[in-house]
Amino acid sequence: MEIVILPNSVEVAKFGARRVKALIEKKPAAVLGLATGSTQIALYRELIRCYENNEISFRDVTTFNLDEYIGLNAADSQSYRNYMQREFFEAIDIDERNTLLPTCDVHADPRKAGDAYEHAIAQAGGIDLQMLGIGHNGHVGFNEPTSSLSSRTRIKTLTQNTVAANSRLFGDDEFQPHLAMTMGIGTILDTRSAVLLATGKDKAQAVRDAIEGPVSAMCPASALQWHREVSFVLDEAAAAKLSLADYYRWVHQEKCRILDES
Ligand code: F6R
Repeated sequence: MEIVILPNSVEVAKFGARRVKALIEKKPAAVLGLATGSTQIALYRELIRCYENNEISFRDVTTFNLDEYIGLNAADSQSYRNYMQREFFEAIDIDERNTLLPTCDVHADPRKAGDAYEHAIAQAGGIDLQMLGIGHNGHVGFNEPTSSLSSRTRIKTLTQNTVAANSRLFGDDEFQPHLAMTMGIGTILDTRSAVLLATGKDKAQAVRDAIEGPVSAMCPASALQWHREVSFVLDEAAAAKLSLADYYRWVHQEKCRILDES
């Protein structure tokens, strides 16, 4: 595992964007896994900035989002499709047909929808780089505590904590779903590389549990300890509870010195 501790959330977003950019430079038809949530917004702004400066093109890129609510249609301002259009896709040159989310109509069979999403990922050749955030309870995607560590894309019932944490984004008169389709932890572990971005002190405990705790379904992000190529990119506040923080800083400095990267 690579653990990168940076001074602030701006640097975290820039680091994440550099990883995306480096991948697309190497592989213009890359397959990207994307996340939603507040933390990712700075990443999308930075990627849009790179696109506007002609540093990057998404023309041949395919994207798979981690999750989508059940019970909201794409046009609903709270759907993750709407978030992705608004915060990212509409500002770049991606072909919208190559942007996929794990949607499931309320009347459809979620097992079939999950299998179809897994099939689409496999057909695209698998995910080269999966971007992730982390919930206060250690969820990744909407894999809530006690999710199977080998789960695939499926329906999940959100915990009350997650519903409460996300309620800040819904108006009083808006329907807030408590069901979602999400890539499974097994799906995430199959990605060729993954970068988890976490900022702010309210993520410090989840970050500690994920990196230094035991691998446990009680902290789904801890399963990333099994990932072959995962980076946790943290600001100082999110890293505040790590017992080996100085060691991670030293390792990162050495890596930058040897590979001449930052
Ligand atoms: C959403 C997702 C979630 C979020 C997590 C953190 O697609 O994958 O796991 O990354 O809930 O959300 P924020 O960044 O809003 O704290």
